[in-house]
Amino acid sequence: MLERLCALTGAEIRFEPLDLRNREALEALLAEARVDAVVHFAGLKAVGESVEKPLLYYENNVGGTIALLQAMAAHGVRSLVFSSSATVYGDPERLPIPEDHALRPTNPYGKSKLMIEHLLADHAASDPAFRYAALRYFNPIGAHPSGRIGEDPRGIPNNLLPFVAQVAVGKLPALKVFGNDYATSDGTGVRDYIHVMDLARGHVAALDYLSRKKHSITCNLGAGRGYSVLEVVKAFERASGRKVPLEFAARRAGDVAASYADPSLAAARLGWKAALDIDAMCRDVWRWQSQNPHGY
Ligand code: UFG
Repeated sequence: MLERLCALTGAEIRFEPLDLRNREALEALLAEARVDAVVHFAGLKAVGESVEKPLLYYENNVGGTIALLQAMAAHGVRSLVFSSSATVYGDPERLPIPEDHALRPTNPYGKSKLMIEHLLADHAASDPAFRYAALRYFNPIGAHPSGRIGEDPRGIPNNLLPFVAQVAVGKLPALKVFGNDYATSDGTGVRDYIHVMDLARGHVAALDYLSRKKHSITCNLGAGRGYSVLEVVKAFERASGRKVPLEFAARRAGDVAASYADPSLAAARLGWKAALDIDAMCRDVWRWQSQNPHGY
């Protein structure tokens, strides 16, 4: 994927896979490269797996971030953009969800994201030169518009869009819609989907904010509107020209009826708004999936 990214952007990107928990390797990397800011995307992200293996999630997500912050501090790197998640809100008490909503994640994955937000705040309080942007992603989907970079989950996809795309391309027989008895317009779950290209722009806006404003921010990255599972399927059928067979199944444990962001803080502070709609998201997922039916 990195080779494709370099080819697309013309950028020279050095790819050094390392485990964040490996302090020595991190230190060596930061000692050698001139780093102004770190964008920290690394983490485990499967809700179900986190319930089965909580220690792995805390060790990897929280432990990895502590090692990263320690290494950054040792090398004078004092800006961080962190991939947090809307999952920190838990079951929403009100919609749209503002940043000051109660924080009650319902699984170890979500709790690991919230713990990291707390440790970032404590670290920033102890070191006035350190600043961070914690970006609470809603539901990122989509692909690079070239069709060359996309989501290629291992095994059976957990998330809606990769599953729908693999049904449309003929790899999977039918979508199971988890629940059609929610209190939503058509009974299926509603989420705030956001195009990965918009999400990428959100990170650039956050880096720019940290360099201009010199203080930290925690904000939602979402479009501010929800689509039901059935609306997403219809949009995908329009974008792909393929039928997506589906069947209704029981609710998935831990799912909420509806979740969508109040995105006004990101608009006011970062000057960022999601620009791409559900049709663009589905079109780009389909371009990636149809051009890369077997993934990378
Ligand atoms: N869904 C189906 N069938 C599937 C997969 C999903 O009906 O095969 C439904 C879900 O029930 C839900 C919607 O599609 O209503 C979206 O489900 P996803 O799994 O794509 O996304 P989630 O909202 O469950 O979770 C995502 C991220 C999490 C993050 C969370 C934040 O995957 O990492 O958003 O709210 F924590």
